Amino acid sequence: MADDNGDNSGIEQRHIFINADIVAMTMTEKQPHWLPDISHRPGPRYRAIAAALQDDIGSGALPIGAKLPTHRDLAWRLGVTVGTVTRAYAEAERSGLIGGEVGRGTFVRDPRPTEAPVDNTGIIDLSVNALAQHPNEERLRQALLGLASRNDLSGLMHYPPVNGSARHRQAGAAWIAQTTGLTVDPALVLPTAGGQNAMHLALAAITRPGDSLLVEQLSYPAVKPLAGLLDLRLVPVAMDDGGLLPDALEQAARAHGAHALYCMPRLHNPTTVTQRPDRRQAVMAVCRQAGIRVVEDDVYGFLADDAGPPALVALDPERVLFLTSLSKNLMPGLRTGFLLCPPPLMDRVRTLLRATLLGVNPLGAELSAEFILSGAAMESAIQRRALVADRQAQARRLLPGAASDPACPHLWLPLPEPWRREDFARALLSRGVRVTPADAFAVARGDTPHAVRVCIGGVERVEVLEHGLRILADLLSEPAAMGESFV
Ligand SMILES: Cc1ncc(COP(=O)(O)O)c(C=O)c1O
Repeated sequence: MADDNGDNSGIEQRHIFINADIVAMTMTEKQPHWLPDISHRPGPRYRAIAAALQDDIGSGALPIGAKLPTHRDLAWRLGVTVGTVTRAYAEAERSGLIGGEVGRGTFVRDPRPTEAPVDNTGIIDLSVNALAQHPNEERLRQALLGLASRNDLSGLMHYPPVNGSARHRQAGAAWIAQTTGLTVDPALVLPTAGGQNAMHLALAAITRPGDSLLVEQLSYPAVKPLAGLLDLRLVPVAMDDGGLLPDALEQAARAHGAHALYCMPRLHNPTTVTQRPDRRQAVMAVCRQAGIRVVEDDVYGFLADDAGPPALVALDPERVLFLTSLSKNLMPGLRTGFLLCPPPLMDRVRTLLRATLLGVNPLGAELSAEFILSGAAMESAIQRRALVADRQAQARRLLPGAASDPACPHLWLPLPEPWRREDFARALLSRGVRVTPADAFAVARGDTPHAVRVCIGGVERVEVLEHGLRILADLLSEPAAMGESFV
């Protein structure tokens, strides 16, 4: 029987738009003769049809782009009501399996929609720890309009003071106060070109080439190239779900003669751990005793909705360089970070800034100051917390095993035996979802857990995240794939 479009000419090549958000693609569009056998499927008929759709899409019997029968046609051939088919299609549409196009019909969707962050192969990218940008687009537009209408722009056209203008330092101090509860002297706050630049400045200020740098055994990956650049030897320090282990820190410092520590005590990347208050005291006691200076990275701290345990810098302001940034809250494109620096190190950091940047881009710094001092940055932070909480709840429904602080924009997912982290990440990528295996975070070989980090904050649309997490959950429920070479 021909479908309602009278289109029964076999197979044809077409360009179609399944949805406005899906790019046009050339595909083989099978004719809509799909007729599932639902007689053996229990439960309501619409569920049986939806389940058959899911199975046939999963097995490839219904390929991407395949056109589905009209509601009326399928209802007639299955002997059910049109409403039953409509309900089944609606369910499949909600799960992202199919999509309708007015006037053209219903099609099997590409499970890899082009969403940011997405690479040019259309992968759902859960490997980038950024937060969805669309909520802040309007804020940026308004801030740019506000800036354009000001009559004091000439102040932004010159080389800035190397440690930023008084207003930009004041904004940095305000951001630190809003996110940690600490009152700090703006004279000690340096605007930087993002958190990464703040890390570079801080580490360069407290180390010399050839030194050892203590880091959590799993750490933010960019510390590795930075250590390479500064000629530092990374020394992993064991941690558990309470954070860094003070005894391990003490032993590692002694064994390697190390006097510098880089760590993330709040919402650690990648494990999501926030260091317990007693551990903080113990860690700082070790640092005092062993003469260790600390770089405290708090770029995710704004996501914790209370100030939480005291920052390390509050425990020992002379020993700790504290850094934060606006990248995860507002937008990484601002490239705005702040470094709170103990007075004896100020000159060295200023020299480093002068030698590398001359000073931070005043336009970006001004936008950032405006966001902070107007309250927009905090408004955004509150929205970010809600977004992350929703997405964490969504992830917990699908992946109950993911060990994560609900304030964190990523999950840390220990893999069940016999999965190996690299095999899992590879198998997942072959299904269109990218995550980061633990190897990226390990600073030494050996003892790397079989786990992956899954960033849930960056995908712009929650349905896309849902789709990606379902693919992930499905893979987890299947037998583990073997590595490629086994003979
Ligand atoms: C722990 C940590 N520190 C620093 C940065 C860099 O921040 P920014 O984008 O502000 O340079 C990141 C970015 O992912 C991060 O995860």
